Amino acid sequence: MLTQLAQAVYVVAAVLFILSLAGLSKQTTARGGNLLGMVGMGLALAATVVLALVRSERPALVTALLVAMVFAIGAAAGIWRARSVEMTQMPEMIAILHSFVGLAAVLVGINSYLTEPAAIVHQVEVFLGVLIGAVTLTGSVVAYLKLSAKISSAPLTLPGRNMLNLGALLASAGLMVWFVAANAVVPLLVMTVIALALGWHLVASIGGGDMPVVVSMLNSYSGWAAAAAGFMLSNDLLIVTGALVGSSGAILSYIMCRAMNRSFISVILGGFGVEAGTVVASTGEQGEHRETTAPQVAEMLLEARTVVITPGYGMAVAKAQYPVADLTARLRAAGVHVTFGVHPVAGRLPGHMNVLLAEAKVPYDIVLEMDEVNPDLPGTDVVLVIGANDTVNPAALEDPGSPIAGMPVIEVWKAKHVVVFKRSMATGYAGVQNPLFFRENTEMLFGDAKTQVDAIVAALAAQTAPAAVPAG
Ligand code: TAP
Repeated sequence: MLTQLAQAVYVVAAVLFILSLAGLSKQTTARGGNLLGMVGMGLALAATVVLALVRSERPALVTALLVAMVFAIGAAAGIWRARSVEMTQMPEMIAILHSFVGLAAVLVGINSYLTEPAAIVHQVEVFLGVLIGAVTLTGSVVAYLKLSAKISSAPLTLPGRNMLNLGALLASAGLMVWFVAANAVVPLLVMTVIALALGWHLVASIGGGDMPVVVSMLNSYSGWAAAAAGFMLSNDLLIVTGALVGSSGAILSYIMCRAMNRSFISVILGGFGVEAGTVVASTGEQGEHRETTAPQVAEMLLEARTVVITPGYGMAVAKAQYPVADLTARLRAAGVHVTFGVHPVAGRLPGHMNVLLAEAKVPYDIVLEMDEVNPDLPGTDVVLVIGANDTVNPAALEDPGSPIAGMPVIEVWKAKHVVVFKRSMATGYAGVQNPLFFRENTEMLFGDAKTQVDAIVAALAAQTAPAAVPAG
């Protein structure tokens, strides 16, 4: 009876997960989507505990204590990290969480082989589950190290790296045949080591600019690893959830590749097709740059009819979204037409800028996507580039040798005036110099983005009548 009830709850949880994904597809419904996901996960956990108690051969008290212990450790670590993580560190946190899914799939796979009678189908499930889990584990660790700048984000270009990847896959296929034929643990363990090395190498070969795709691709791998663990544990909900995560991660990776004009296959194969030597970041200065000050920018803004703001990672680091929202409200009150242009990979995770702007209560209808804002730029008076760099780099379109060549960018240089907010002439995430900074219509406003936007707001406040400004 309890088992049937738990299975019914699993179905409800699966439906809630699907509704949650549907809700997360739009900003306006994202909160509701999150809530549905949380309720679904709560139900799934409760049903899993009931099933563990019913199915366990141990005394119920021992199982309950073990489950409580695991809960306490997981919840304590999760709550501590969730409270302490900065928004800008989210991608690295997601990457390290994916590595846990990979580790779990490896451990569940090896454990389930050692404890259960080995039917051929089960052996194949175990082998594939451990393979995907091991690739996800080390791949996610490298993604974490790259995103948190603990190792260089430059691609590792070992000679014959495509052959190395292919060799690892062929060796794994051979080991699977051996594993099924001999029913021995050795080929499983040898494959685990090879797959760990493959995951490491695949992600190490991917350069900084392609990292967003890698994060969502690892998200997809972690889903398939979870689905494989679901088959091994005969847990239907884990199979459904894993498949949902796996396929939505794959779709997101594909959409991001299209947005960045990258080939999906070349990214997932670890930079396949990028010849060693073409990824040379041009970091040298490319001429003279001009500097401006906050009061001068305030004056220029008041004279403008149309202003476009393109935010990037620096706005997130500086937490400048609140003064930016304040500035927007003041300019709109003064009759200036203000819109935002958000690049699909601005910041460090999909939707990063949209979340920050929504948090600061910038109205959704003035936040435009790259394709919507680009046609408006030639007729725009002023563009404020706030902490963005790679996503507004003209070299992506004009320099075929650039590491970010072919990536669509927000074409800010087509506007009459461009003001770039950053602290120095340093490069962005991809490590490429930006010719925008040396254009005739560009002025640099050096300093922390929040400090500078605050200073512009103060200058505007001194010049204009008090405006209705949103709280926060
Ligand atoms: P970036 O190219 O990373 O440039 C950010 C700029 O912000 C830097 O040049 C930095 O210059 C400036 N900055 C940093 N702190 C600042 C502060 N406190 N005040 C003012 N400026 C500050 O940013 P982007 O244009 O948003 O591009 C995103 C990049 O990240 C792309 O290459 C993308 O591929 C990659 N990426 C994206 C994702 C996703 S999914 N969105 C995930 C991983 C990687 P200074 O140091 O001179 O201040």
